[in-house]
Amino acid sequence: MLSACLFDLDGVLVDTAKHHYTAWKKLAEEKIGVNFTHEDNEALKGLSRAESLSYILSKTNREFSQEDQLSMMEEKNLNYLSLVSQLTPSDLLPGALELLQSLKASGIKAALGSASKNAPMIIEKLGIVDLLDVVVDGNVVTLSKPHPAVFLKGAELLGVAPEHTVVFEDAVSGVAAAKAGGFFCVGIGEPEALPQADYVVSDLSFVTIEDLKSKFFN
Ligand code: BG6
Ligand code: MG
Repeated sequence: MLSACLFDLDGVLVDTAKHHYTAWKKLAEEKIGVNFTHEDNEALKGLSRAESLSYILSKTNREFSQEDQLSMMEEKNLNYLSLVSQLTPSDLLPGALELLQSLKASGIKAALGSASKNAPMIIEKLGIVDLLDVVVDGNVVTLSKPHPAVFLKGAELLGVAPEHTVVFEDAVSGVAAAKAGGFFCVGIGEPEALPQADYVVSDLSFVTIEDLKSKFFN
């Protein structure tokens, strides 16, 4: 039985990964003095803000105090917020709105499972608050992906079992979190990049409730 779907936010429902990239790159190159590449950004997908900064700081020998690190995270976030301030429902990735609407119409629950502390503001701008039964974000859960906490909390709040739930994820760490929690996982992206996913599509327009039922619950 398919009881619920849990969605990562960045890179699954909306393409904010490019804005995280721009904001981290500016901080890394202008403030810390290290390169920041697309490969670095891939490695950071799904990780929390603090873990992302630690990753970037591991590329330099320079020492930064706790206070410096807090102000760097704040600076990155202010840049990120200015980049996402213009988001509208038209920024939802292909298929996202249609899948959320068909879940609602079918009585299958939907939740957000994101590491982002900005998630509440972003789903508001995207106009999908009413399509999500539960929101679990970086303000609620502190154990980051690949720990399954964010998805387990979502399932618990929805009152569903992981084995009746599908997680949609674009990050290696997020797919690992879903599998560690005992969920089915649909990867969003390239199959070679997400080998742990049960199957991979390029975006949610390739997913229907019937597909999910036939792939996982037959
Ligand atoms: C995740 C993103 O969804 O949220 C990461 O994949 C990001 O790139 C993390 O660092 C935390 O986001 P925020 O908005 O709290 O800085
Ligand atoms: Mg993501």
